[in-house]
Amino acid sequence: MLSTLAVAASLACAPLLSGAAESATDKQAFISDLIGKMTLDEKIGQLRLISIGPEMPQPQLLKEIAAGRVGGTFNSITRAENRPLQEAAAKQSRLKIPMMFAYDVVHGHRTVFPISLGLASSWDMGVVEQAARVGASEAAADGVDVTFAPMVDVSRDPRWGRTSEGFGEDPFLVSQCARASVKGFQGSSPANADSLMAVVKHFALYGAVEGGRDYNTVDMSLQRMYQDYLPPYRAGLDAGAGGVMIALNSVNGQPATSNKWLLRDLLRKEWGFKGVTFSDHGAIDELLRHGVASNGREAARLAIEAGVDISMADSRYLEQLPSLVKSGEVPVGLIDDAVREVLGAKYDMGLFQDPFRRIGTAAQDPADVDAESRLHRAEARAVARKSMVLLENRNNALPLKKSGTVAVIGPLADAQIDIMGSWSAAGKPKQSVTLLQGMRDALAGTGKITYARGANITDDTRVVGYLNFLNWDSPEVVQDKRSPGDMIEEAVRVARDADAIVVAVGESRGMSHEASSRTSLALPGSQQTLLKALKTTGKPLVVVLMNGRPLTVNWEKDNADALLETWYAGTEGGHAIADILFGDENPSGKLPVSFPRSIGQIPTYYNALRIGRPFTPGKAPNYTSQYFEEDYGPLYPFGYGLSYTTFSMSDVRLSATKLARNGQLTASVTVKNTGNRAGETVVQLYLQDVVASTVRPVKELKDFRKVMLAPGEARVIEFPVGEDKLKFYNAKLEYVAEPGDFNVQVGFDSEAVKQARFTLE
Ligand code: BGC
Repeated sequence: MLSTLAVAASLACAPLLSGAAESATDKQAFISDLIGKMTLDEKIGQLRLISIGPEMPQPQLLKEIAAGRVGGTFNSITRAENRPLQEAAAKQSRLKIPMMFAYDVVHGHRTVFPISLGLASSWDMGVVEQAARVGASEAAADGVDVTFAPMVDVSRDPRWGRTSEGFGEDPFLVSQCARASVKGFQGSSPANADSLMAVVKHFALYGAVEGGRDYNTVDMSLQRMYQDYLPPYRAGLDAGAGGVMIALNSVNGQPATSNKWLLRDLLRKEWGFKGVTFSDHGAIDELLRHGVASNGREAARLAIEAGVDISMADSRYLEQLPSLVKSGEVPVGLIDDAVREVLGAKYDMGLFQDPFRRIGTAAQDPADVDAESRLHRAEARAVARKSMVLLENRNNALPLKKSGTVAVIGPLADAQIDIMGSWSAAGKPKQSVTLLQGMRDALAGTGKITYARGANITDDTRVVGYLNFLNWDSPEVVQDKRSPGDMIEEAVRVARDADAIVVAVGESRGMSHEASSRTSLALPGSQQTLLKALKTTGKPLVVVLMNGRPLTVNWEKDNADALLETWYAGTEGGHAIADILFGDENPSGKLPVSFPRSIGQIPTYYNALRIGRPFTPGKAPNYTSQYFEEDYGPLYPFGYGLSYTTFSMSDVRLSATKLARNGQLTASVTVKNTGNRAGETVVQLYLQDVVASTVRPVKELKDFRKVMLAPGEARVIEFPVGEDKLKFYNAKLEYVAEPGDFNVQVGFDSEAVKQARFTLE
């Protein structure tokens, strides 16, 4: 239907480009010709991305667009909103250059999928791709062209609230997710009417902000950057992402937004990136506060010199570039380069052929943009089922029986907003299925659900009271006015009458968001007191976690009968959680991040560099590297997750113990489902370079396979190992594999592994 619409619309507005101009030369010729016709003001207009909102009333915006002073907008999410804007550009402006419309479509659009951390927990790239594909098709059907996603910042510090937006701590897994996501957003081409152009963010190293405090500085060795933090951006770009968003942080003393090394030497020259770069929100202006520009004029000059093509929600380019060019301080060639990238992106999205390809005609607009029929519930539920990680299951407390009475308790049990997670795009809370609803639907006609809230998410008045951190722009968290004691008492009463307790605890979604850094990773407020009180009832206690970062769930680990990490599972979250709790789905997720025991232990990422005095289990800890008040290692390791069945793994077999340069060997294991129900697990391959010219990690994930096995079924899983998997950046930043011994580890998580050794000749 969209393609018919697209043709009709394109005829109606006489596009700049008729017919299909396919080749790169056609594209360059078309763009050069257009740039040749543009005035300086029109060029600078193309570099301006405006946030739709109260800052600019629509009549003024339409005038600005018609005058050729705006290249695109973001945050408008219906065809009806975008159509007049596109008409002003494509019909009224002098050169009829189309607008582009952007939005943060991170984990779904109208249908909300699990947050990225949940998607990564599936370790299933089909799942990651599908979430992006559905999100793209829904957003494109709303007239959106560009998404500010995927967010591929490696994060090793769970204090950082944006941990929730990324795919975890591991360069290899995050890179795989980056690739799958870009593929999903862009489909076979960003020009497709149901595709979005992907913008990989935040370039670069945003996940490494010091202390996990958002927007803080990053200071990092080149080795660490190249080895651990840069690969996911590169993977997203190699998968064809059309854009890059520049990070808000500084990198080794230079803000990313004014960082020529980052944006020109690395991104353009070394990596050969040909797409468009976006500043983050207001970031050019922030160069003043970073203290590298003394005024707006200098900020604009630094940003354009560094290679920032588009200024987002920032008027510095508009105000300053005209006179900077006229005075000769900024050569017009720099502006032309940036404009070429913007027009190139619009060209790649098919907008010159048809500016209305994602907007269509008014007659075709949905009568109700929020209509239930526009959602993809089945896909969201299937994906959410794959995103959850079973952390504990004592005495097979799960799955629950579909009979009797289940007490559903907790501040997150009936939280329609929170279950969507942060950056939930155009998702509507009233359309999301809470855990309570999901449980009611699952038990309808066969059992009974009772409910008590039990606690507020937090009692901290700084967060929900006088500073109102969580409710600053809308009432996200509504406090129950009863005292914690009264709420707990009610919950215990309800629990006593039930056969099992399912209690949803964690963080409100605003606690795992941009600018939401924490100094504690414990359950906030009186939630743990609630859990302890429920435990005294002696009823099976099933703890369902909803959160956007690892939490220090020590008590929960030791005391819950079952512990299920559900992250924020999206529109169909409640159904998907119930599917797992009642055994309609066998959990198969694995942690994409390590869970620390305490905040003092951070960072706890598994692939740390080796050291001279490592802690050795079973030996005295004195003069070894550890914290003496606490057990060594994470609470739950990277890659960990249980199933309702059990699996065994054979020793690792190597097809050879010597690997020639350019050769290949195979590491294989036999994996068997030793339980009595079908289930999936993730077989993970780690490598360790035993001796190298620089210190290397204790191990690094290099491959994985998700396998479904019937009860009793055994399968041989083979991993090819060649030189490419052994390479690293040496002291001269050369990407090399050095001869010598390598340990091959295969396991069901990063700790429970079997090992063999081979030698690279
Ligand atoms: C965030 C970006 C986001 C942008 C536009 C910024 O605050 O850092 O990730 O894409 O806003 O919404």
